[in-house]
Amino acid sequence: MQLIDGKTLSKKVQNFVHAEVEILKTEKNIVPGLAVVIVGDDPASHAYVSMKEKACKAVGFYSITHKMPNTISQDEIIEIIIMMNNNPHIHGILVQLPLPKHIDTNKILEVIDPKKDVDGFHAYNVGRMVTNLDSFVSCTPLGVMKMFEEYDISLEGKDIVVVGASNIVGKPMASLLINANATVTVAHIYTKDLARHTREADIVIVGVGVPHLIQADMIKEGAVVIDIGINRLDDGSLVGDVDFDAVRPKCSYITPVPGGAGPMTIAMLLENTLKSAKQFGERS
Ligand code: GUN
Repeated sequence: MQLIDGKTLSKKVQNFVHAEVEILKTEKNIVPGLAVVIVGDDPASHAYVSMKEKACKAVGFYSITHKMPNTISQDEIIEIIIMMNNNPHIHGILVQLPLPKHIDTNKILEVIDPKKDVDGFHAYNVGRMVTNLDSFVSCTPLGVMKMFEEYDISLEGKDIVVVGASNIVGKPMASLLINANATVTVAHIYTKDLARHTREADIVIVGVGVPHLIQADMIKEGAVVIDIGINRLDDGSLVGDVDFDAVRPKCSYITPVPGGAGPMTIAMLLENTLKSAKQFGERS
């Protein structure tokens, strides 16, 4: 069993991005800029955003965060996004999800300029990704693909089960895997017998927010298990969706939580923002 060390790989990506930022500054006088929009006071969302801010600072990006109260209207959020769309110092715009119930998330995401959509949530980028064209790709699935690449885990012809069908993780994950010639099953809350699918899989990728959902008897001997879940238990500890200690001995590779897919998500946000800044530099 080999542990997939997302923390170390994310550091490697951060170092690469940092070096590229220096080159971009020197050669083109461009400082990659990221704008983050966060609405409300959800502590987990604020924790994610502060990690993103910290990572931006560490690689030399310019970053601004718009913190807005729960009471803000949809039109006011749209106004801020339009301002960021028109700001030449900003190359990436990220709206932290989930948004409060009175806000139509799809409407908000569609206002973001697709050229600055470093989260890859805009329908334009989703469509391009599905058709295997160059696009911004959602950071968590992109980070998982990076881990496969780093650890030489081949995908072609593999039976892969993705557990979770969200727009930001499960669906883009499945598309990327199909584009890599895997045979993909997407399981979700209505799946009749989850274990029947996972037991047959060469690779299981799970991100649903249910602690210990994936047990040892659901995993084939030698399988690769990627845990995207992150759950805080009552005792304050962080666990994924996989019963790590029980599943670990059966795997060829497994990601820990924390220290697996989580740090890779932030690393991919940095890569996407760098990519956007470079593309703006080429257009000007
Ligand atoms: N909420 C949970 N994950 C994400 C993410 O990757 N990006 C954004 N914007 N919001 C999230």
